[in-house]
Amino acid sequence: MKGVILAGGLGSRLMPLTKITNKHLLPVFDRPMIYYPIQTLVDAGIREIMLVTGGNSAGDFLRLLENGAAFGLNRIHYAYQMGEGGIADALRLAEPFAAGDPICVILGDNILEKGIGKPVAAFAKQKRGAKILLKEVPDPQRFGVATLKGKTVVEIEEKPKKPKSNFAVTGIYCYDNKVFSYIKTLKPSGRGELEITDVNNLYIRAGTMTYDILDGWWTDAGTFESLLRANELVAGSRKVRTAGKAR
Ligand code: DAU
Repeated sequence: MKGVILAGGLGSRLMPLTKITNKHLLPVFDRPMIYYPIQTLVDAGIREIMLVTGGNSAGDFLRLLENGAAFGLNRIHYAYQMGEGGIADALRLAEPFAAGDPICVILGDNILEKGIGKPVAAFAKQKRGAKILLKEVPDPQRFGVATLKGKTVVEIEEKPKKPKSNFAVTGIYCYDNKVFSYIKTLKPSGRGELEITDVNNLYIRAGTMTYDILDGWWTDAGTFESLLRANELVAGSRKVRTAGKAR
């Protein structure tokens, strides 16, 4: 399976922190935000990775990440998103990289306590369709929200005012190659973006979407509150690990 990290967009909810740099280069505890999703993919055994970014600071990713040696990689593939047309617009650029293979996509501002090895392996067995990872949250209206019926996702609503469940759709998605033909059928949403939620609903309608519940804590880092929370969660788990080593 190949991995795609989406790190474009303007990060406008973090202005002025993002006025002169890209959101994903901001620090989260002791490393740049972008390190976390890369590590998540690498820990899941994914070694072929494309980073999609955009804007004025795009070159800084190359200087920071080089060929990925810090993660034990031989190379990182890069793509440049013109403008900020949405998550699905950024993903569109990975079609030649995927070259027909299944992909695991992670949003560049998603930070996880534990690994995604199990769901990624489960999707490899599933072979076709898509898999999303859900997490129960206290503030579902900030996210894509999944309505579940037993073991099936029946609908995802993007940032609903009245969420039908507490299950947020995290920014980790496994797709077969059909994703790129689905993206080509999308129309921009009310906020002028190609929405990943629309892609996921197409898989749901086709009856090929599965879900897993994510293990451990999960947070995005795209608002001041969630960026602070990400720092605290990472610092907290680092302390636990260091204490574990000292014993
Ligand atoms: O974090 C999970 C949530 O991410 C999901 O629950 C939502 O369904 C999904 O729409 C998304 O919501 P956000 O409003 O938080 O997405 P945001 O615009 O902050 O973009 C998240 C990441 O996607 C961002 O860190 C970089 C990437 N992105 C975003 C846009 C708009 C791009 O690469 N290009 C873009 O044009």
